[in-house]
Amino acid sequence: MSKLFIKTFGCQMNEYDSSRMADLLKESHGFEVTTDPEAADLLLLNTCSVREKAQEKVFSELGRWKEWKSARPGRVIGVGGCVASQEGEALARRARIVDLVFGPQTLHRLPELLEQARRTHAPAIDVRFPEIEKFDRLPEPRADGPTAFVSIMEGCSKYCSFCIVPYTRGEEVSRPLDDVLAEVDALLAQGVREITLLGQNVNAYRGRMADGATCDLALLIHILARFETLGRIRFTTSHPAEFGDALVEAYAREPKLAGYLHLPVQSGADRVLGMMKRGYTRAAYLETIRKLRAVRPDIALSSDFIVGFPSETADDFEQTMDLIEQARFDSAYSFVYSPRPGTPAANLRDGVPAAVKQQRLARLQARIHELGGEFAARLVGTRQTVLVERPARKGGGQLAGRTACNRWVNFPAPAGPAPIGRFLDVRIDEALPNSLRGRLVQTSAAP
Ligand code: SAM
Ligand code: F3S
Repeated sequence: MSKLFIKTFGCQMNEYDSSRMADLLKESHGFEVTTDPEAADLLLLNTCSVREKAQEKVFSELGRWKEWKSARPGRVIGVGGCVASQEGEALARRARIVDLVFGPQTLHRLPELLEQARRTHAPAIDVRFPEIEKFDRLPEPRADGPTAFVSIMEGCSKYCSFCIVPYTRGEEVSRPLDDVLAEVDALLAQGVREITLLGQNVNAYRGRMADGATCDLALLIHILARFETLGRIRFTTSHPAEFGDALVEAYAREPKLAGYLHLPVQSGADRVLGMMKRGYTRAAYLETIRKLRAVRPDIALSSDFIVGFPSETADDFEQTMDLIEQARFDSAYSFVYSPRPGTPAANLRDGVPAAVKQQRLARLQARIHELGGEFAARLVGTRQTVLVERPARKGGGQLAGRTACNRWVNFPAPAGPAPIGRFLDVRIDEALPNSLRGRLVQTSAAP
C-alpha cells in the first residue's frame, strides 16, 4: 500500500485542508498516512506565506527533501497551500524536485495531478480559484476523535493592506447550508461532539439555503444548536467589522456556543487601523466586546496583533497596550509586521527600527502572558465542563479535555472505560503555565 507523508505549515485552514488531502488520496489511490517520511512514497507540503519567515521555511524545507526523493525512484513531491498559490509555475522552476503544485482551491484535483505527473514526467500545476467546486469533489470527512473542523467558507475579500491571503486563497465564497449540515451530520454519526466552524472570516458566511434564502453565521449556529448529539460549537476566525448584534444574540441564547472568541484586532490605534484598512475603529471593537461581556461575563477572548506596522509611533503602540488592558485578552498571536510582496502596505515607507519593533513585541507578549496567567488562576476553584478528548500526554492514568474557554485540563481517569467523547464536570485545582489540573466532580449525569 502506498504511503503519504504530509507536512503542514500555518493556520487551522491549512490543517483542515491537509486532512482533506489525506481523505481524498485514500479514496482515489488508497494512500495511507504515515508519520515516518522514510516509509512514504508521496510527500505533500501544505505551505503558508502569511509572513516572510513562513515562506522562506518552505524553500529551505524543499532543499532538505532532495536526497529523500533520489533515494527511491518514483517518489513524488507535491506543494500546496499559499506559497504554491502565489508562486505557481515559478515554484516548479525554482525547486526542480517538485512534481505537483496546487493551491488551496484546487487540492481536490490532487488525484488527477498525480496521474498527470506520472504520465508526462513533468510537473503538474493547477493554482486556479474554481469557486467552490472543491467541496463538491471531496469525499466524506473521517472523524479523528470527538472534535472536528468544518470549513463553511473559503477565501477573504477584506484586502487588509498588509495581508497576502486574498491573493493566495481568493475571494470569500460560502458553502451552501445543506452541504455544511450534511458534513456535520456525517461527523456526528462518527461520534464527534464538538464542531469548530472554520473560515478566514466565518462571520462573512452567507450560505445559500434550499429555498433560495441566505443563512448567516448566527442562523447557522442556531440551526446547529438543535442537533442533539452536538454538545459544543466554536467558530474561527471572525472579523471585527462584521461582528453584528445577531452574533452577540447567539452568545446570549445558545449555551452550546462555547464561551470563547478569537477576534483579531491587530492594533489599538485608529491611525494604524485606518492604514491597515481594517474597516473598524478602536471604539467599535471595544463596544463589540462590551456587548459580548454583557451577555457572557465569563467569555475568554483572544486576538491577533501586528506590531511595528510601517510608521507605528510609540503613542500608537501605547494605544494597543491600553486596548489590551480594556479588552482583557487572555491569549493572543502576535508578530512583527512582515512586508508581503504585492500587498499595498509593502510600498509604505517605514522608519521604525527593527530593534524597537522587537522591544514592543516582547512587551506586548509579556503582558498577554501575565493576563493569561491571571485568567487561569481565576479558574482555580471553579467547576468547568470539559469535553474529554484523549489520554493526557504525560500519561499516569490521566485524561485530557478542553473547557468551553478553550483551556486544556488534565485530570485522573475514573475507573472503567475511558470516557473519551463525553462532557464531564471537573473542579479546577491548579493552574500550570500551559494547562490546568483538576478532578472529576461527577461522571453520571452528563451524556
Ligand atoms: N481573518 C483574520 C482577521 O480577521 O484578521 C486574519 C487571518 S490572517 C491569515 C492571520 C493573522 O496573520 C492576522 O490576524 C495577522 O495578525 C497576521 N498577519 C497577516 N499578514 C501579516 C503580515 N504581513 N505581517 C505580520 N502578520 C501578519
Ligand atoms: Fe487577511 Fe484581513 Fe482577510 S488579515 S485574511 S485580509 S481579514
